[in-house]
Amino acid sequence: MTREQIAILDFGGQYTQLIARRLRELQVYSEILAPDTSPATLKARPLKGVVLSGGPDSVYAKGAPRCHRGVFELGVPVLGICYGMQLMGHLLGGEVVAAGSREFGPADLVVRNGSRLLRGLPSPARVWMSHGDSIQEPPQGFSVTGSTTNTPVAAIEDPGRGLFGIQFHPEVRHTPDGMTVLANFVEACGCRRDWNAASFIEEAVSRIRETVGDGRVVCALSGGVDSAVAALLVHRAIGDRLTCVFVDNGLLRKDEAAQVRRRFAERLTLRVVFADASRRFLAKLKGVSDPERKRKIIGREFIQVFKAAARRAGKAGFLAQGTLYPDVIESTSVRGPSAVIKSHHNVGGLPRGMKFKLVEPLRELFKDEVRAVGVQLGLDEEFVHRQPFPGPGLAVRCLGPVSRDRLDILREVDDVVVTEVKAAGLYRALWQSFAVLLPVRSVGVMGDDRTYQYAVAVRAVESADGMTADWARLPHDLLARISNRIVNEVRGVNRVVYDVSSKPPSTIEWE
Ligand code: XMP
Repeated sequence: MTREQIAILDFGGQYTQLIARRLRELQVYSEILAPDTSPATLKARPLKGVVLSGGPDSVYAKGAPRCHRGVFELGVPVLGICYGMQLMGHLLGGEVVAAGSREFGPADLVVRNGSRLLRGLPSPARVWMSHGDSIQEPPQGFSVTGSTTNTPVAAIEDPGRGLFGIQFHPEVRHTPDGMTVLANFVEACGCRRDWNAASFIEEAVSRIRETVGDGRVVCALSGGVDSAVAALLVHRAIGDRLTCVFVDNGLLRKDEAAQVRRRFAERLTLRVVFADASRRFLAKLKGVSDPERKRKIIGREFIQVFKAAARRAGKAGFLAQGTLYPDVIESTSVRGPSAVIKSHHNVGGLPRGMKFKLVEPLRELFKDEVRAVGVQLGLDEEFVHRQPFPGPGLAVRCLGPVSRDRLDILREVDDVVVTEVKAAGLYRALWQSFAVLLPVRSVGVMGDDRTYQYAVAVRAVESADGMTADWARLPHDLLARISNRIVNEVRGVNRVVYDVSSKPPSTIEWE
């Protein structure tokens, strides 16, 4: 199945993937390709336009990535953004000056009347800049359609040839009218704008069929959204040649294993092998307090249990994983040379050393796109909007030694927190809200008796991506209800504290 698309040539810009995402928001399918993709390869696609991304280089730098000149002669519109604009100017005979008018951050763009690309923008329009070099003289045939104080040539176009260049970044939120610019480009490309979650599913399913052929696939369901959506896509593609494995490590939240069974095995009819390994995990964790040792033990056990369960499920050549785009950029670029941005803990615990080929149908999507796909595949809203939950589960929220008794207490406390946050209508607005069982006891009084019981911490944070976070200003009456219910309903706890630390310097999880 081929659908019209806009190709993005990646010159290593931080925001390249965001451009793809914005085009998808405009319901145009887009793919990110290597900067030197040949015109012939591009021509072989159902191509409606090309975007040249930003990038950290100067067009004059040795080894700076380039596209073929033929890209400008494909007969489809081309939009150069930042470095992409400079490269377009440079390759077509304009003049680029190095570091003449550096500009980082917000700028006011004065828009010339009659611009096709900037139609509908106010003048001046607030735009986001991030560049050293800039175009001094546009190539022949181009007119200058926008300027800022520091960058006289901030937007150029040759509408006859369908060539456009902008020095600012329309894809970031700091350019409030950025979507108008991209929509104008999409219109110049003559796109039908019919790409959505349903068509993503159609394409992903046919790609999975192609990759897997008549092979078998195994997938570890973590209980989270990403692995669930990946599994459902594979299931739609190959049916019961997919086997899912769900490992109950004894570190799950209240009723979680039962919910997975109901949701996936019963309602969505996936083949799921349930491995109840809670005893084994808890035995290995006995007496262990050190957070890193806990993580290592859990990671190792998971791989062993998963391996055994996968073997029981029959011989599979493929492993499906719910890797998302933000997981991908942490280690490598998608296909082009996008700079490595962050490093982060592993997510699902890929069984290293197992000879699987990977099936990762969500590699180019962001979380909210995955949610939309999940809903389309039959997952309920409540499930797709679940807050993140760490791979090592409650072990890293049960401070000090992990035991079944302490986990049971934590499960009850956590359930109160989540239930009350949901009842207050705040669950979706928060990045995470949960409880931590502390390894300290304190004195209290219940009735006429002195008590000496555990203290728990409630943690609720706001965050965009988990990399930084602020503690949530929960209403006092909500905190009061949570505290009251915990102390009254959960045996073994007589004190509740609220965590008022942000990340950094703290982390979201306590371990
Ligand atoms: P921290 O505690 O580092 O957490 O601020 C940032 C985000 O990552 C989640 N987290 C994990 N996720 N495996 C995971 O899959 C892990 O080992 C892990 N540790 C933390 C955490 O819940 C938060 O959303």
